Amino acid sequence: MSRIIAIMNQKGGVGKTTTTINLGHALALEGKRVALLDMDPQGQVATGVGLDNDQGLDRVLLDDHAIDDYIVPARDGLDIIPAGIQLSDFEHISTGGSTRGHKLRLAVEASSLTDYDYVLIDCPPSSGLLGINAMFAAEELIIPVSGDYLSLQGLSRMMQILKRAESISGHEIKLWLVMTRMQMRRRLTQEVRERVLKYFPSRVFSTVIRENVTLAECPSFGKTVFDYKAKSAGGEDYQSLAHDLLHGRTS
Ligand SMILES: Nc1ncnc2c1ncn2[C@@H]1O[C@H](COP(=O)(O)OP(=O)(O)OP(=O)(O)O)[C@@H](O)[C@H]1O
Ligand SMILES: [Mg+2]
Repeated sequence: MSRIIAIMNQKGGVGKTTTTINLGHALALEGKRVALLDMDPQGQVATGVGLDNDQGLDRVLLDDHAIDDYIVPARDGLDIIPAGIQLSDFEHISTGGSTRGHKLRLAVEASSLTDYDYVLIDCPPSSGLLGINAMFAAEELIIPVSGDYLSLQGLSRMMQILKRAESISGHEIKLWLVMTRMQMRRRLTQEVRERVLKYFPSRVFSTVIRENVTLAECPSFGKTVFDYKAKSAGGEDYQSLAHDLLHGRTS
């Protein structure tokens, strides 16, 4: 049984893709079998691990192709399914009624991804059809929250979307939060973390992902932090976050 987890926040630039790639690789290094699904038309999961973003979930969602035809090996224990260059077209599909939101879930259920230990879904910074599909496909949600006040504002909207998705899909979605891009010396950072802990008691992962230049450099080399510089703050933090997820460790 795989754990299917969507990495979601409609706010841009909070670290969704960075978390998908590096948490995914960290889990693979722990001996888990991991797949990364790229539901963001920006296609940065593939490029972030040094692979092409030509085809993938665009063909699955637009032309009903099988996911298994687009699984690409990325590292030992780590496979990806790219977004594909036409994925943004799916956001404008108006036919199919309410089944449109369930296309990804059905495609995952019909694929070999059910044999993986972890399936991580990188989501776009929006709450359109792609995000809805990710939410319906997932049993768990990780919301990265960056250390600024604006990221608190987006959270209440995320919660409304989550509640609606739960009532439509009829299954409970387990919620996790992770503090990202944290500048530990700033007082604001501590205040934001305290607020989030107060609103989401025991849902916030113990590990704090620090703002770390190594994490920002990796994607331009097509490398994860573990390929590039495992012994960096970023490497330490994402390894620690993987342990949080494996053991359900929260603050
Ligand atoms: N902990 C960190 N320290 C330093 N830079 C980071 C960190 N996390 C992410 N970044 C950088 O911040 C930028 C945004 O990160 P990322 O692309 O992961 O966010 P995102 O939420 O996926 O964005 P989008 O909403 O556009 O998809 C990137 O340039 C990334 O390299
Ligand atoms: Mg992203």
